[in-house]
Amino acid sequence: VKYKEQCRVISNEERNGYIYMRIMTENIAEKSKPGQFVNIRTTCTTTPLLRRPFSICDAVSGELLLMIFVKGSGTAALLHKKPGDFINIIGPLGNSFPEPSRPPLFIAGGAGAAPFVYLSRSLPSARMLLGARSSSLLPDIGLFDNRCAVHVATDDGTCGEKGTVINLLEGLDISKHTIYACGPNPMLRALSRMIKSCDSAEAYYSIETTMGCGFGACKGCTVETKEGDYKLACIDGPVFPWNGIAL
Ligand SMILES: Cc1cc2nc3c(=O)[nH]c(=O)nc-3n(C[C@H](O)[C@H](O)[C@H](O)COP(=O)(O)OP(=O)(O)OC[C@H]3O[C@@H](n4cnc5c(N)ncnc54)[C@H](O)[C@@H]3O)c2cc1C
Ligand code: FES
Repeated sequence: VKYKEQCRVISNEERNGYIYMRIMTENIAEKSKPGQFVNIRTTCTTTPLLRRPFSICDAVSGELLLMIFVKGSGTAALLHKKPGDFINIIGPLGNSFPEPSRPPLFIAGGAGAAPFVYLSRSLPSARMLLGARSSSLLPDIGLFDNRCAVHVATDDGTCGEKGTVINLLEGLDISKHTIYACGPNPMLRALSRMIKSCDSAEAYYSIETTMGCGFGACKGCTVETKEGDYKLACIDGPVFPWNGIAL
């Protein structure tokens, strides 16, 4: 079940190029599961025309937390929302992360960390490898409580290890973990190359495609499967088994 709600902004803070927005919802937060997303009308006008999709970063007591990296016109409009403003939101949308059968390991690039705050709260313990180009582009790891250990890599070495998040995987036995990954496609492709060389990997990717409606009506979010078939990222995903889609 999905809901379309006029939701009140509780707080909206900008840190390091990311917006952290808390929003009060009637049903969306309460009915959501980790891995699902919301589709937001970012302005009261028709520009931009399309809603913008964002992972549910956290959902507690009817409140949604969104972690939004400011990119273009839609996300820039969200930067100006103030406590008390109302935003039109559709959600919860999409599928959710399957239960892990092994100790969970999150692999995130930048804003790809967003869905793992909520997921980590639903698990007894987890580890996250987080990558960004530079310390000035890192999301706030303070959102993760002490049940999730966070290891950071930056391309320029300004925080954590110098290198990519994939470098942090070296020396780790992938087959001992259930992997959940979210981030730019080049990161997911590099991860797939590592997973391929492992016998019995269990990995799920949350993918970020451009979207329209968010609930299966516009067919604007097709993703190709390895078999050359097509799926819709908004209803069949956004979470797919790592070998289920062509990236
Ligand atoms: C299921 C899902 C969950 C997402 N969760 C988050 C999240 O938690 N936090 C977050 O910061 N972002 C998330 N995204 C990406 C976010 O939707 C886009 O960054 C946003 O729509 C860009 O809007 P804009 O108007 O600011 O940028 P635009 O002006 O539309 O575009 C700016 C740049 O962003 C690219 N872009 C546009 N839409 C997307 C998209 N859907 N995915 C990737 N790149 C895009 C464009 O190609 C362009 O280069 C998610 C996307 C999906 C599909
Ligand atoms: S976004 Fe419209 S069908 Fe997926």
